[in-house]
Amino acid sequence: MPCPALPDGFDFTDPDLLQDRVPYPEFAQLRQSEPVRWIPQERGITGYDDEGYWAVTRHADVKFVSTHPELYSSNTNTAVIRFNSSIQRDQIEVQKLIMLNMDPPEHTRVRQIVQRGFTPRAIRSLEDVLRRRARDIVATALQQAGPDGSFDFVENVAVELPLQAIAELIGVEQKDRSKVFDWSNKMVAYDDPEYAITEEIGAEAAMEIVGYAMNLAAERKQCPAKDIVSQLVAAEDEGNLSSDEFGFFVILLAVAGNETTRNAITHGMHAFLTHPDQWERYKRERPGTTAEEIVRWATPVVSFQRTATQDTELGGQKIKAGDRVGIFYSSANHDPEVFDDPDSFDITRDPNPHLGFGGGGPHFCLGKSLAILEIDLIFNAIADAMPGLRLVGDPRRLRAAWLNGVKELQVSTAAE
Ligand code: HEM
Repeated sequence: MPCPALPDGFDFTDPDLLQDRVPYPEFAQLRQSEPVRWIPQERGITGYDDEGYWAVTRHADVKFVSTHPELYSSNTNTAVIRFNSSIQRDQIEVQKLIMLNMDPPEHTRVRQIVQRGFTPRAIRSLEDVLRRRARDIVATALQQAGPDGSFDFVENVAVELPLQAIAELIGVEQKDRSKVFDWSNKMVAYDDPEYAITEEIGAEAAMEIVGYAMNLAAERKQCPAKDIVSQLVAAEDEGNLSSDEFGFFVILLAVAGNETTRNAITHGMHAFLTHPDQWERYKRERPGTTAEEIVRWATPVVSFQRTATQDTELGGQKIKAGDRVGIFYSSANHDPEVFDDPDSFDITRDPNPHLGFGGGGPHFCLGKSLAILEIDLIFNAIADAMPGLRLVGDPRRLRAAWLNGVKELQVSTAAE
């Protein structure tokens, strides 16, 4: 039965819609009445040569698609549900060198190599340095606040730790950091006219990162360090990882670990400041469940997509081979079948089987432990140094097709 309340032409990947809001009411309608629904898209606006995609909105179905790569491919059309309209098919094809867009067995091989850099031990070894950095970021934001105590939380706080963590992980030297930060920012903000990032500028930035990564690799081959580059270069020596794959992996890290964590931190702060009871509780008790609830609440990645490899069925709906399927993590994370009171922000929520890091399966977020660590460290630092922070403006949202992004959040440390 078609969902009567969804207006004609409604598209969950419309950047104008996501600039305005995450469509939670529409997700709720679909979960109830038509959990796998065909969403038409005009040809030529998505980068794909087809008529639309299936919106998958229930937690169970998002999980099913994610854990069945033999039925739902990440490679056929990549995992990105909508590119900039000016993108050419060959530019999409290049993206298949990124692990996110590979299927087993290629994906399994690359993932086995790169996950050596993400062992619990590797992440723990970053903890002390990242704790110091989190405190420094908050202290600097305090110093730089205007005379009225106000500052932009995104620029002065949320942006910094994710970038620094990736730079630390990859071993980017201090002198090169602003360059790498600039390139990574240019690669994701292509849908927002404020940044004026054309597909060309994005592609150029990506090539610059690849070039930088290759040089870094050559240096580390000569002089190995205790960082992920040295590990991956060693893998290359063993004939496991090609140079291209190495360069594209660094790109994936810069994209996947940067904007996502930044938005989790920003939405988390906004959630705290609009739920003062939770902020008071956090300051008192620092529950270990907090970061996971922030990621559920924020769901920085609204959706990814897969493409059906054969005729199949999902949630009672027939899917044809070659159809694109949008998996909406934002909807799954508010599914009342799974979460009690899903629209409330509860930092003690436990269990919390959210899909903010993906629905399980081979592509489950490689950086999850690092992201959780960063979120924990930054909110501990904020609670210690800025306990009285308050909102002074509404979030200014990013125009994007699949990210729940905020580009500005004005806050103040001064009492009202
Ligand atoms: C709150 C922050 C983050 C969120 C919400 C997030 C979310 C996601 C999601 C939804 C996926 C796709 C999962 C799937 O398709 O099943 C993913 C994949 C990935 N993430 Fe994250 N991520 C975050 C932080 C990070 C960080 C900090 C890093 C690394 C520095 C990272 C590295 C990756 C990589 C490499 C993949 C691809 C994995 C693969 O294809 O096998 N992520 N992430």
